[in-house]
Amino acid sequence: MKKVMVVYKSNSGNTKMMAQAVASGAMAIDTEVVLKTFDQASVEDIENADSVAFGCPACGNEEIDIEVVLPFLELVKDKMALKKTALFGSYGWGEGTYMEVWYKDMMSMNAFLVDKGLTILNTPDSGGFQACERLGVKLR
Ligand SMILES: Cc1cc2nc3c(=O)[nH]c(=O)nc-3n(C[C@H](O)[C@H](O)[C@H](O)COP(=O)(O)O)c2cc1C
Repeated sequence: MKKVMVVYKSNSGNTKMMAQAVASGAMAIDTEVVLKTFDQASVEDIENADSVAFGCPACGNEEIDIEVVLPFLELVKDKMALKKTALFGSYGWGEGTYMEVWYKDMMSMNAFLVDKGLTILNTPDSGGFQACERLGVKLR
C-alpha cells in the first residue's frame, strides 16, 4: 500500500478546502491517504509516506506560516530527499508570490517537487477544486 500524507495549515478554511480536494485526488485503490494539520502531523508521518502534500496560505509579508509550518519543515528537512512533494495554498492579494520562495526552500531540501506549487486566490471555485484534485493525482 502506498501512503500519501496531506498536511496543511489554514486560518480561515480556504487552504483546508484545498487540502481536502488534494486528498481526494490522491485516492486510489492501492493508496492510503491521510489528511492532517501541521499541529497533528509527526516526523514519522512524513518519513513513512511515499509522497506528501504541504498546504499553507500566504502569511506575514509573502511568507509561509512561521508558527507551525516553518518549524515543522525544519524538523522533516532531512527526510525530504527525493520524496514526491506537492505544495499548495490560498492567498489574498500577493499574486501567490510567497509560493516561489517556499518552492525554492523545498528544492533546497532535495524534495522531488511535482510542480511549482498551486496557489488559489481566496476560496477555491470549481476550477480551483479541480486543480487541487489534479495535484493530488500527481501524488499517487
Ligand atoms: C496575518 C495575515 C497575513 C497575510 N499575508 C498575506 C500575504 O502576504 N499575501 C497574500 O497574498 N495574502 C496574505 N494574507 C491573506 C491570506 O493568505 C488569505 O486570506 C488566504 O485565503 C487565507 O487562507 P486560509 O483560509 O487557508 O487561512 C494574509 C492574511 C492574514 C490574516
